Amino acid sequence: MTEQQRVHPVRGDFAANAWADKETYQSMYQQSVDDPETFWGEQAKRLEWTKTPTKIKHTVFDTHNVDIRWFEDGELNACANCLDRHLDKRGDQPAIIWEGDDPDQSKTLTYRQLHEQTCQLANTFKALGVGKGDVVTLYMPMIPEAAMAMLACARIGAIHSVVFGGFSPDALAQRIVDAESKLVITADESVRGGKQVPLKDNVDAALTRKGTDVVANVLVVKRTGGEIEWHDGRDLWYHEQVDQQSADCPAEPMNAEDPLFILYTSGSTGAPKGLKHTTGGYLLHAAMTHQYVFDYQDGEVYWCSADVGWVTGHSYIVYGPLANGATTLMFEGVPSYPSHGRLGEIIDKHNVAILYTSPTAIRALMAHGDDVMDSSRRDSLRVLGSVGEPINPEAWEWFYRVIGNSTCPIVDTWWQTETGGIMITPLPGATDLKPGSATLPFFGVQPALVSNEGKILEGATDGNLVILDSWPGQARSIWKNHERFVQTYFSAYPGMYFTGDGCRRDEDGYYWITGRVDDVINVSGHRMGTAEIESSLVAHEAVAEAAVVGYPHDVKGQGIYIYVTLKDDYEPSEELRKELVQWVRKDIGPIASPDVIQWSPSLPKTRSGKIMRRILRKIAANETEGLGDTSTLADPSVVDDLIENRANR
Ligand code: WTA
Repeated sequence: MTEQQRVHPVRGDFAANAWADKETYQSMYQQSVDDPETFWGEQAKRLEWTKTPTKIKHTVFDTHNVDIRWFEDGELNACANCLDRHLDKRGDQPAIIWEGDDPDQSKTLTYRQLHEQTCQLANTFKALGVGKGDVVTLYMPMIPEAAMAMLACARIGAIHSVVFGGFSPDALAQRIVDAESKLVITADESVRGGKQVPLKDNVDAALTRKGTDVVANVLVVKRTGGEIEWHDGRDLWYHEQVDQQSADCPAEPMNAEDPLFILYTSGSTGAPKGLKHTTGGYLLHAAMTHQYVFDYQDGEVYWCSADVGWVTGHSYIVYGPLANGATTLMFEGVPSYPSHGRLGEIIDKHNVAILYTSPTAIRALMAHGDDVMDSSRRDSLRVLGSVGEPINPEAWEWFYRVIGNSTCPIVDTWWQTETGGIMITPLPGATDLKPGSATLPFFGVQPALVSNEGKILEGATDGNLVILDSWPGQARSIWKNHERFVQTYFSAYPGMYFTGDGCRRDEDGYYWITGRVDDVINVSGHRMGTAEIESSLVAHEAVAEAAVVGYPHDVKGQGIYIYVTLKDDYEPSEELRKELVQWVRKDIGPIASPDVIQWSPSLPKTRSGKIMRRILRKIAANETEGLGDTSTLADPSVVDDLIENRANR
């Protein structure tokens, strides 16, 4: 079947009741790009400002001067926008529904309760000497305290840096040191799929690393009561501290351009980058996309199954939904525990109307067959969403038919840590859907495709995806390294933001993201720099050289394929293979677990010594027919050897 035949047109009842139908989308989009000042000045009214902005947009995308400011004379507080302003109307409405890893554990926090507990935590921070501009690191399970900690930072003007709980002590230490964080918040253990993860032990290990003595305190949530070590003077129990504090804590008025958070993400080269997001533009983008993209209607239960450690959790579990006064579901566990029916069972249990999840989660369920959904009805569902990686049309159709009972539009949302919020996406009442396409740009977003030489391409074509002008949610910089920000995103194609993604545009102007064109791989929707994994491997005593590439993986989207050249005194063995896998897991975290290791006496290099990754990618993907030109290789016979000894999969 061709893509054209697979169109799912907007349903009439949806268009009639949604926030935007086709005409609304078109006219709003047009205004957003023709007259951004008026458009965003008007949209800014959806937030509550302590000082209304009069200057709307001041943005320069120039390789010598990248300067991005939105609402720069406005003042507001993100926490007050997410909590205080809802108290009158919806103080008793659930703000967070928490579903534990164990299906017998769940609880609900109303807006009033969330407000009260967040204020107590904000006062705790103050008592510990944390104030405006200080960085607080969160290394937390998926529990309401994680959202409270983010909001409590925002309340007093502290900057949060959330580190995903699956990262290793070294990865955590690196981020603490870079951010010069004074306070770390964690839990004794997290629980996922019935297994405990020793978060506090990992923090202890991280804090033995060089440079981490900036950390004065570790605040520990008692999640499991598991055994942990205690460092008197440094470690404090969360509940003991919070219980002593008053629930009265005025929200600090912040400038729209004051930082709200930093979030580390991987790139092509070097250490992870701390993207800096600011207050006004980010919150507006998160809130507005949450309303329009998911067509969120008052009172609905909305569930984003991401982890708060990723940007998706920031924008679409915490800030977007809470800014809109929504009920956001937070799930501690995994969709396959205790059985593969769990996802559907949670939907039924809490009457979930909107489910936002990842292609990997969908493919993992799909692999178990349609009857994994037999234990649930899912008739509360109205809208489905996908994020993090390209969704293949087969997985899209399965999501639509089996999870959504063939009644719910799917919004395939393309965006990045750097973009703050959703950028290219359908709107459920406005956009005819094509499985596998992220479709059309959101308000204010001007995508374009460029050739490798930077020429803007028109019409139906393939190209590198760039964005031509700023949007409010855009990251403003890299923490303490603006030069790297400019270099990474604005130097490849001067005057444009380069996304790092390849993309195709079809005859209807629909965008189809084809995946990264740089040395970033996307494993189960987790972004990883191949350089990071390589530098971990070469630190092992047996490894002379390593090259890491992604290869197509049925469930994970991409798997991690590693070519290893051993030092002279070492022989390949099954033990060594296992050791290297463990080495990377320990160094970076389980998400970087190598899938395949191929022993490679030598790697294909150009005469100037550059590894030709294009060839390694093809071999890993088993596409050895069309290897292209290998004549620039120093020793072309290396390639035959690699093909012959391709690792079995
Ligand atoms: C990829 C996650 C195809 C893309 C929000 C991007 C996608 C990277 C999609 C950002 C999608 C994200 N279709 N690819 N709908 N969404 N990506 O920073 O390669 O963790 O550059 O942000 O994920 O990953 P990040």
